[in-house]
Amino acid sequence: MQNRVSQRETRPKTPQAHAAPRGGRKQALSQVVELRPGAVAVIVVDNPPVNALKHAVRAGLLDAFTRARDDKSIDAIVLAAAGRTFMAGADITEFDKPPQAPGLIEVLDLMDASKKPIVAALHGTPLGGGLEVALACHYRVAAPTTRLGLPEIKLGILPGAGGTQRLPRLIGIDKALPMILSGDPISAAQALDNGLVDEIVEGDPTQGAIAFARRILAEKRPLRRVRDMEDKLEFYRANPNAFDEVVAKSAKRTRGLAAPAAAIESVRWSFELPMEEAERRVRAKFAELRDGDQSKAQRHIFFAEREAAKAPNMPAGTKPREINRAAVIGAGTMGGGIAMCFANAGIPVTIIETSREALDRGLATIKKNYQNTVARGGLKADDMERRLKLLTGVTDLEAARDADIVVEAVFEEMDLKKQVFGKLDKIARPDAVLATNTSYLNVNEIAKSTQRSPSVLGMHFFSPANVMRLLEIVRGADTAPDVLATAIAVGRKIGKVPAVVGVCHGFVGNRMLHARGIEAERMLLEGALPQDVDGALTEFGFPMGPFAMSDLAGLDVGWRVRKASGAKAEVADALVEAGRYGQKTGRGFYRYEGGSRSPIPDPDTERVIVEASVRHGIKRRNLDRKEIFERLIFPLINEGARILDEGVAARPGDIDVIWVYGYGWPVWTGGPMHYADRVGLPYIRDRLAEIAARAGNAKLEPAPLLTKLAQSGGKFSTYAKAA
Ligand code: CAA
Ligand code: NAI
Repeated sequence: MQNRVSQRETRPKTPQAHAAPRGGRKQALSQVVELRPGAVAVIVVDNPPVNALKHAVRAGLLDAFTRARDDKSIDAIVLAAAGRTFMAGADITEFDKPPQAPGLIEVLDLMDASKKPIVAALHGTPLGGGLEVALACHYRVAAPTTRLGLPEIKLGILPGAGGTQRLPRLIGIDKALPMILSGDPISAAQALDNGLVDEIVEGDPTQGAIAFARRILAEKRPLRRVRDMEDKLEFYRANPNAFDEVVAKSAKRTRGLAAPAAAIESVRWSFELPMEEAERRVRAKFAELRDGDQSKAQRHIFFAEREAAKAPNMPAGTKPREINRAAVIGAGTMGGGIAMCFANAGIPVTIIETSREALDRGLATIKKNYQNTVARGGLKADDMERRLKLLTGVTDLEAARDADIVVEAVFEEMDLKKQVFGKLDKIARPDAVLATNTSYLNVNEIAKSTQRSPSVLGMHFFSPANVMRLLEIVRGADTAPDVLATAIAVGRKIGKVPAVVGVCHGFVGNRMLHARGIEAERMLLEGALPQDVDGALTEFGFPMGPFAMSDLAGLDVGWRVRKASGAKAEVADALVEAGRYGQKTGRGFYRYEGGSRSPIPDPDTERVIVEASVRHGIKRRNLDRKEIFERLIFPLINEGARILDEGVAARPGDIDVIWVYGYGWPVWTGGPMHYADRVGLPYIRDRLAEIAARAGNAKLEPAPLLTKLAQSGGKFSTYAKAA
């Protein structure tokens, strides 16, 4: 039975009494929660920066709702938050500490028991536990820019405070499950459409919520307690198979992940079990996931991602320069994608090429990319037009004159890059930031070709640049702090995850990738096949292994680089020389049929490999998955240790972020350095020593830092703290 708002609660009040007094009779219950009394009382949470529901907030809320319940002058309650957002969830830092009462459930139970209507005033990003609090309110109003979601899945957990039970009751399982499984927020407009919010209010959402509360009091509207709403669940009770259909439609790739399966099960309980029993089971699942390795790894990445953008040794108060216009030099694979990133963020961008033909080709690719996204429903046609209008193509470098930031993405040749930067030095505005997208080359040497090396740095995007989130920002020896700050700010603005690194060959990601590649090739000669090597990584959770990745990028690219430098890759070179360039020729390490990108193991490749083993006098043997996996991953971790020791990466978490966002490292294992800590450094050290001895390769010997930490019982994570 739904409660009815009593006659007493709607008695006429003076306007003064209705308004939430600011600074008047307000009661600061704790440092972080305040009760502003009135006929429509306002409870305000103020815990910057994102109003996370830490212990003091929960205690404050419990106190405020208790007082509001007991205060006879209060007829309705508005729950609001100060600052940039309504509560953005539980305080994730508390997950590693013993739970402290009151828990969020106690607060929600008290709200559920309220006989006075509670209206949530939403703005910013009500997420996770924050949205669950809003779901325990009777009504929700939101500012137009609000984004609402249950992102727990991204932290390897599930909504543990009723989200899996209340959201299906309020908006239906078909709408709730995709939100829970994707973790992606929805807009206020979508939330109004599906019933998650009751009204969108212009202006101050708290005032909007107060007005809303007065109206429901005046209209004597019943209390809408979400836990009592059963009608949207009835259909699934009668047709349980319909739930499996919703699951099939909503579930993304979940192999290896514990949280999605648990979330699906929890939503199933919403119609299979009484709510108390379902909640009890969900809480147990939540605790199990929170304490598991996957969630710990995902939480590590959450904080590491935020740390990685903070460059060490930045003078306090360093301000980024203002960026209103960009230029990209080169309209090839990378330049086109980088230009799209700027246009997508609303920044006008000029693309500069050497010839009309190359420019037209590049612009046509950009347009095709946008059209494909529109066709897939990922972008509205008029948004595409708006973005295309921000892109201008020219064949004259002089056009870089107007740009606040220039990103160079011409061929990977030092002489050419120096020539381009030398010219830019004469053309670009004195305060422009000059960035190179080089994959390997020395950024300091490139900077020296200008008279303004403090303005130069690397902005290393990953292919496809408009999709991949990682941006390695390469700080040169002379790079000025505000130039670095600008690159970080621009990176965030265009939706990237910036990670600041130092100068070395290949920077962090490609340098570690190289270490993995050498062993991958060596294992082919010893007895493995491409599918064995790739399988060891896909089984771990990588989207693809090194050989499928080479086929995708094109084997001819690396072959050309090796020819120029006199290096050799026995198997890859033989494949290229047999016309097998990868996906682009339908054959590389694998075969590809009918335009499909699925790799098919190929006996012809096996022949090439076996011949190479014979040429080297290697007797092929069987390599098991464990050996293959360790020989791919441990050398990469070893290189990571050197990178840390040299200070090329400031923190192990930076390396983890680079691998998760740039190279498909499975996020639920936390990146290579976090994973190494979990496996145990002494084990990795010993295995590396064996691998090095067998290969007769001193480069594979355990790095000094790895050895030191292994000996002292240390970890990469604690090393960073001590540094
Ligand atoms: N707990 C603790 N700290 C948090 C936090 C949280 N939930 N959310 C953000 N922070 C911290 C960040 O670490 C960052 O700290 P530093 O400034 O020291 O680096 C600071 O708040 C600001 O965060 P952002 O830099 O991310 O700010 P933003 O404006 O770019 O984004 C945001 C804001 C969209 C809220 C984003 O921070 C975010 O997505 N937060 C996590 C939201 C989330 O996952 N909530 C669910 C938590 S789990 C839960 O609620 C379980 C449950 O069932 C109860
Ligand atoms: P690409 O060959 O696809 O494109 C290079 C473009 O630069 C060509 O269109 C060419 O006409 C143009 N160009 C050459 N000289 C020029 C000049 N003087 N002025 C203007 N334009 C000029 O090469 P890609 O793959 O886009 O690589 C570009 C840079 O990005 C390289 O430094 C590469 O190492 C780096 N990079 C490449 C990645 C990849 O996966 N392809 C990933 C990350 C970085």
